[in-house]
Amino acid sequence: MDFIGRPVADLDTPAFVVDLPILRRNLARMQTAAERAELAMRPHIKAHKAPALARMQLQAGAVGVTAAKVSEAEAMVDGGVGDVFIANEVVGEAKVDRLATLAERATVSTAFDSVAVAGGYSRVFAERGLTLDVVMEIDTGAGRCGVPPEQAATLALSVSDLPGIRLAGIMAYAGAAYLEAGARGFERAAAAEGEALRQVADALRAEGYAIERVSGGSSPTGLHYRLDGGLTEMRPGTYAFYDMNQVDLGAAWVSWISATILATVISTPGRDRGIVDAGSKSLGTQVTPVSPGCGWVADDLGVVVGKLNDEHGYLDLRRAMRSYEVGDKVRIIPPRVCTAVNLYDELYLVEDGLVVEVCPVTGRGKSR
Ligand SMILES: Cc1ncc(COP(=O)(O)O)c(C=O)c1O
Repeated sequence: MDFIGRPVADLDTPAFVVDLPILRRNLARMQTAAERAELAMRPHIKAHKAPALARMQLQAGAVGVTAAKVSEAEAMVDGGVGDVFIANEVVGEAKVDRLATLAERATVSTAFDSVAVAGGYSRVFAERGLTLDVVMEIDTGAGRCGVPPEQAATLALSVSDLPGIRLAGIMAYAGAAYLEAGARGFERAAAAEGEALRQVADALRAEGYAIERVSGGSSPTGLHYRLDGGLTEMRPGTYAFYDMNQVDLGAAWVSWISATILATVISTPGRDRGIVDAGSKSLGTQVTPVSPGCGWVADDLGVVVGKLNDEHGYLDLRRAMRSYEVGDKVRIIPPRVCTAVNLYDELYLVEDGLVVEVCPVTGRGKSR
């Protein structure tokens, strides 16, 4: 069925709905913040996984995009994106081989944090007569991947003779920002991340490495980088949509949330309870316990999805401002939008209550 031009409420549910004017404002706000701090913008596509939205980000001024997986990067290149940074360690010959094939038709770079990972890239790329730009991942406090800053020079030296790769820069994942709350905390996290990376970059440059890219950033810190803060590029992702986790962290207002899940009330078994057709397979799951709930009705925020089964969401109606009847359609704010979008084949862009575009989520489920 063609939904273009039809009211949002006509959509079959559950559906992933994006308010286009809010999305545009989110992209413009973050792009402006990047430009104010003289940072290249390289948004992470994990939040939308849709080439059409990546193209909007490029149009807004991004220099390229970031992905976590080779298959996501492939989806972006297939969708017309010419420059993808995989900000993750790519391990295994099958994956690196696909990375090399991708590098033959797009500008590709990727991360490493060990000789083992860099050696894997080197073997495949050298054999195919290609050179891969690699970016050393530094752990500036997130405690995920990355070498400790003091080991960066040793690692750079260990990989410096490997054929088929070129050390293009350093990166960090600003996960520590998620332990902060509110603007002051994000400012602190942004400054600390930039300073830690600046010191590593300066030390490597002093050893003669051409560190062109110093990549960091997240949605919470993205609005808080200063000029000469140590980075050259930033990679926020969730900011395109935002979600309740970002609001509860103090990184966004509810009015900045552009993505909701349209769901239908299928049962009203009691005065205090309504059941919608969106459970964990439609709303996604939390990966951090930031927000106490599984979803919120966008225009009646006291109504929380308090519990999920696979295909059922439990609306807690005790604080409802209106009544809920079987057949009503409700827009639910997910706690974490990145895992929600991964459940949909398409997202619907809407403006003034009407569907204006249907965008395939071709990066959906691309975890290889
Ligand atoms: C490598 C990397 N870069 C950037 C980000 C920024 O994402 P967000 O916008 O969710 O803060 C993430 C988040 O998971 C990430 O893993």
